[in-house]
Amino acid sequence: MFLAPSILAADLADLKTAAVQCSQGGADFIHVDVMDGHFVPNLTIGVPVVEALAACSEIPLEVHLMVSNPDRLLEEYLAAGASWLSVHWEATVHLDRVIGLIQQKGAAAGVVLNPATPIEVLEDILPMLDFVLLMSVNPGFAGQAFLPYTLEKACRLRGAIERRLLDVTIAMDGGIGVDNIHRVVASGVDLCVAGSAVFASEDPVAAMQELRRRAESEPV
Ligand code: DX5
Ligand code: ZN
Repeated sequence: MFLAPSILAADLADLKTAAVQCSQGGADFIHVDVMDGHFVPNLTIGVPVVEALAACSEIPLEVHLMVSNPDRLLEEYLAAGASWLSVHWEATVHLDRVIGLIQQKGAAAGVVLNPATPIEVLEDILPMLDFVLLMSVNPGFAGQAFLPYTLEKACRLRGAIERRLLDVTIAMDGGIGVDNIHRVVASGVDLCVAGSAVFASEDPVAAMQELRRRAESEPV
């Protein structure tokens, strides 16, 4: 399992410490939530902050764009240091072009689906994707409750990927913590994003290690 702590839940006045904690906790990526106040009702991190994080992070940045019409912003985020970059299916009408552009720049390209968006919309583009990020909360804020019906989507997506012999990573984002991470991974998810479960904890490094332990152990 890959673990990607979501920096949105960290102390935003001390992102460098959060980046160091991610390395110490053995995280595989730092998940960076970019919100435009339009596609979602919140405004968060932009290009200069992604650049600053890339400069002080030892681990790659996985950038989640929650913005309308991401097409015009891709190059800036890639230049700022996004190694993995995802856009919402609901936010662009030119998905094929967006995916191609991200990959041409040498980054991994992903599509994010809101909880209510069925995985079937990806039927044709699935072979072109590096990853699919399934939202397990409605995007906009950290600290929301996990929506259990999204586990079934992960199972179905895992089935489709295996049936078609594809190499596409499944990520899940929102409300993941020690109590449900085992079920998330058992549903076929490869990459777990966790915000509050890591950074609302007193010891984020220990929280990352515990998440990994729970993901790999038998369910309680
Ligand atoms: C929600 C964001 C998530 C969020 C995760 O819109 O995309 O990445 O920060 O935080 P938790 O794990 O607290 O739900
Ligand atoms: Zn996110």
